[in-house]
Amino acid sequence: MKIRVLGAGAGGGFPQWNCNCHNCQRIWRNEMNGVKRTQSSIAVSTNNKDWLLFNTSPDILAQIQAFPAIQPKNGVRDTGIKAIMLIDSQIDHSTGMLMLREGKPLDVYCTEMVKQDLSSGFPIFKMLEDYCTVNHHPIPCDGSGFTIPGIDDLRFYSHALKSKAPPYSPHRHDPHEGDNVGVIVEQISTGKKLYYSPGLGEIEPHVMQAMLDADCVMVDGTFWTDDEMCTQNISPKRAREIGHLPQSGEGGMIEVLNEVKNTRKILIHINNTNPILDEDSAERKTLDDVGIEVAYDGMEIDL
Ligand code: MLT
Ligand code: MN
Ligand code: ZN
Repeated sequence: MKIRVLGAGAGGGFPQWNCNCHNCQRIWRNEMNGVKRTQSSIAVSTNNKDWLLFNTSPDILAQIQAFPAIQPKNGVRDTGIKAIMLIDSQIDHSTGMLMLREGKPLDVYCTEMVKQDLSSGFPIFKMLEDYCTVNHHPIPCDGSGFTIPGIDDLRFYSHALKSKAPPYSPHRHDPHEGDNVGVIVEQISTGKKLYYSPGLGEIEPHVMQAMLDADCVMVDGTFWTDDEMCTQNISPKRAREIGHLPQSGEGGMIEVLNEVKNTRKILIHINNTNPILDEDSAERKTLDDVGIEVAYDGMEIDL
């Protein structure tokens, strides 16, 4: 299977439009050894022709321009995007559907909870009824497997996560199973597995098992420390409080990933405040030393 990182940034992207934090200021001024990142999405395919999009970022138009494999090829209207899977209803993961309104109905795979958010608090499923329309396909929260018509040779297993519904959701402080899911993507013919989970608040046993079984994990890389946005005077919100396990410290993502052997380990959904964006930083060196990679836009993985 081929995995293409369309956008490796968290909500806001890097740099964020109005941000002058230590990282954003230096990237605006071209004074940092690092690269810009658009908002969170990946695409997967086994034939290089028919792609499943995970999440639809507000930056999707730029992401399509940067990736010829999903651009129109045959006929007056065409796309390599055959279906969409949403792992939650966050703005950075769903807004891109509005940019895909000119075409045929969108086949969107997501949980009942995500569908509810996108039909109420942020009613884009309803709005799109007057454009392309959305065909909603429910996905499980219990880890059971399913396939997607038009996406050959892949089987998906989705399980509920402890993370957070978006700020606009009635579930923000009242979690429901299926507000967030992690997904195992298995190539049927080879048995190779990707585990994708860009918003991960807690490592429950089924999450650890999914990571141990995978050939490649792409997991929450949002924050280095729990208080990163507080100490930079950006927001009083702490990482764990908004559903993201930080990388450093006791019980952090680095410790977790150190238990996962013989697997390619990639952090994705990196917030603009995270020091790992600076390729010369001590934090980035810490990751290099333990074999953890940091996703970037355009990164491709062959599994
Ligand atoms: C999150 O994952 O917490 C989001 O990136 C927040 C946002 O969309 O602003
Ligand atoms: Mn996000
Ligand atoms: Zn910033």
